[in-house]
Amino acid sequence: MALEERPVGKLDRAVIFLGPPGSGKGTQAKELARKYEIPHLSTGDMLREHVEQGTPLGRKAKPLMEHGELVPDSLVLKMVAERIERPDCFHGFVFDGFPRTVTQAKYLGELLKQHGLKQPFVIHMVIGTSVLMKRMTGRRVCKVCGEIYNIYERPPKVEGICDCDGGELIQRPDDREEVVGPRLHAYEKQTAPLVMYYRRLGYLHDIDARKSVEEVKQEILQSVESIRGVR
Ligand code: AP5
Repeated sequence: MALEERPVGKLDRAVIFLGPPGSGKGTQAKELARKYEIPHLSTGDMLREHVEQGTPLGRKAKPLMEHGELVPDSLVLKMVAERIERPDCFHGFVFDGFPRTVTQAKYLGELLKQHGLKQPFVIHMVIGTSVLMKRMTGRRVCKVCGEIYNIYERPPKVEGICDCDGGELIQRPDDREEVVGPRLHAYEKQTAPLVMYYRRLGYLHDIDARKSVEEVKQEILQSVESIRGVR
């Protein structure tokens, strides 16, 4: 279907969440994907699934993720290209944790052109590193649905249990204090250059990620609504 024939009201573009670990990308990406009824594509979640299932990709990714290092571009790009081929991605999707290197961003640019999608909308989660440690070490995730909690800021109604489906809440292995440092380092070195890359292209929208979850959500929604229908 040509772009002009797609139903009005859909985003028809990729929304990219860019920001350091713990900045709230996953929390907000899930909300946005729900709102626009488009898939939430978290490369971290996809990789954790591969690790859990013990696939060849999962076996390569596991030691790297455990040490807070990035998984090689070639492996991630293949995984992403396969995922966005699926029909549910036709009206756009929300990327959480991808792209993470300039190589990934350039490849994504080509993929989006091939799929006839509009230029991406990049949400840059701006936050200082001082609060990130508390956010990550306090994070708990539902084993069943992936809902994200925080024992300090966003606790579940019943400790250790997901409000949505009663699933068990677990701590991610890379949220241990000793892995958080290397993850922040990998972000600064390999991912932070994307801020300038997307700013130069005019795709970047800064969001103050220090505010409450609800305030950040409203800021993002206003920002995304302002470009709906824009080519
Ligand atoms: P990934 O899963 O993508 O992790 P990340 O980027 O490190 O980000 P996080 O999931 O830690 O944080 P977030 O920003 O989503 O924050 P959240 O919303 O959960 O990647 C994991 C690993 O996979 C990487 O290290 C790498 O090895 C590999 N990988 C993944 N993608 C890759 C790629 N493209 N290339 C190569 N390797 C890749 O929030 C954090 C906490 O804060 C939660 O507890 C939440 O409740 C709380 N919180 C959120 N917002 C607020 C708020 N506004 N106020 C108070 N608390 C808040």
